[in-house]
Amino acid sequence: MIEPTNRHILRGQVLSFRDDPFLVGPDAAIQFESDGAVLIENGTIRRVGPAQPIIAEHPRVVVESYTRDIIMAGFVDCHVHYPQYEVIASYGEQLLEWLNRYTFPAELKFDDSEYARQAAEFFLDECLRNGTTTASVYATVHPQSVDAFFTAAQARGMCMATGKVMMDRGAPDGLIDTPQSGFDQSKALLEKWHGRDRLKYAVTPRFAVTSTHAQLEAAGALWRAHPTALMQTHLSENAAEIALVGELFPETTDYFGVYEQFGLVGKGSNFGHAIHLTDRERQAFRTTGSGISHCPTSNLFLGSGLFDMEDLRDSSADIPIGLATDIGGGSSLSMLRTMCASYEVCRLNGYNLHPAKAFYLATCGSARTMLLDNRIGNVEAGKDAELIVLDLRSTPAIANRMQFVEDIWDVLFVQMMMADDRAIRAAYIGGKKQYMRPSAQ
Ligand code: GUN
Ligand code: ZN
Repeated sequence: MIEPTNRHILRGQVLSFRDDPFLVGPDAAIQFESDGAVLIENGTIRRVGPAQPIIAEHPRVVVESYTRDIIMAGFVDCHVHYPQYEVIASYGEQLLEWLNRYTFPAELKFDDSEYARQAAEFFLDECLRNGTTTASVYATVHPQSVDAFFTAAQARGMCMATGKVMMDRGAPDGLIDTPQSGFDQSKALLEKWHGRDRLKYAVTPRFAVTSTHAQLEAAGALWRAHPTALMQTHLSENAAEIALVGELFPETTDYFGVYEQFGLVGKGSNFGHAIHLTDRERQAFRTTGSGISHCPTSNLFLGSGLFDMEDLRDSSADIPIGLATDIGGGSSLSMLRTMCASYEVCRLNGYNLHPAKAFYLATCGSARTMLLDNRIGNVEAGKDAELIVLDLRSTPAIANRMQFVEDIWDVLFVQMMMADDRAIRAAYIGGKKQYMRPSAQ
């Protein structure tokens, strides 16, 4: 059967990327149409450009107008824990104590499928409300937490990755699997979900502290057998964690070396944090194609440290790096709030994160860490129509500040430093409007 063509046009100020601003500089990287249009056909972007010719050539196609707003790619959050949405703002601890005191007790509840289902539904609604259309998500050790998440993402038509957390030591009994059960359950989930509709499976050993040698070996074997799947874990977040990894893996030169030893590095791998890297580890990122999730709100909240964006991304290092909220170490699901924190972290390191680079990291950069940059992360003909509409005057303070902006860089910088979920007017998944902000009272 031939499907009827389903077309519509979004008109507004269209922001997209021609290239990577870290490589070619902001001016050459960005494409900004102050009166632009996006033609969407059956969920795919067909044309992007000045509004007049696109509208004139398609006189019968419905036009939705957002002329005072920016139309851009949906945000991509490349490291976030959906079961931890309820532990945001848990007081007074650093990583290892915070995991034991707040995070593991919350994750224990995901043994209950109905609890997991409700949490997944709420989390995905919150993603849309924050303009996040794709994410690389950690579930819990329970297979049912993965089923719940993929089921909810599939029902919304969303492009999402997740995986069963593998952890066979260093946590409460109810959160522990074994090398064999972790492998078997992960494999079954991968075979069930990976590549179904817009879903991707991520092999997810939590981190070297909670996985034995045997489990990391099993995770590596699983990923090798399914190379189109992703691999996500944590790396070099906190001083006590790094010292503990040194004790648990005395034979390995450094933390990244543990993952290298088990074949858990390379294209499609995604390491959360990567703050306290040795020179050898930095060099390994330059040569292995492994990706990094920069989690600035989490690194600040847990007092973990300052990520070195300048060295890892700006000094001629073409490492896949994306921006991530790392809920619930992170304090907001808003990628705008996360860009703000990233700018502030970079300032403390004596480096300016240009708004072109921040918006790039939050969209194209994150998509690249998930091997999805050929499909999403940009407003470009041929890509999936994952789009958001950014209200440029979402609070009185922002509206006031917007009177004094001089160019597009000012506009974007004001948004990333001042805006939050209230700026998301609409979100489109596969060309369909899945979220519309309730009109202001
Ligand atoms: N390292 C291992 N597990 C976690 C987690 O859940 N959150 C953060 N921030 N770091 C981790
Ligand atoms: Zn994390």
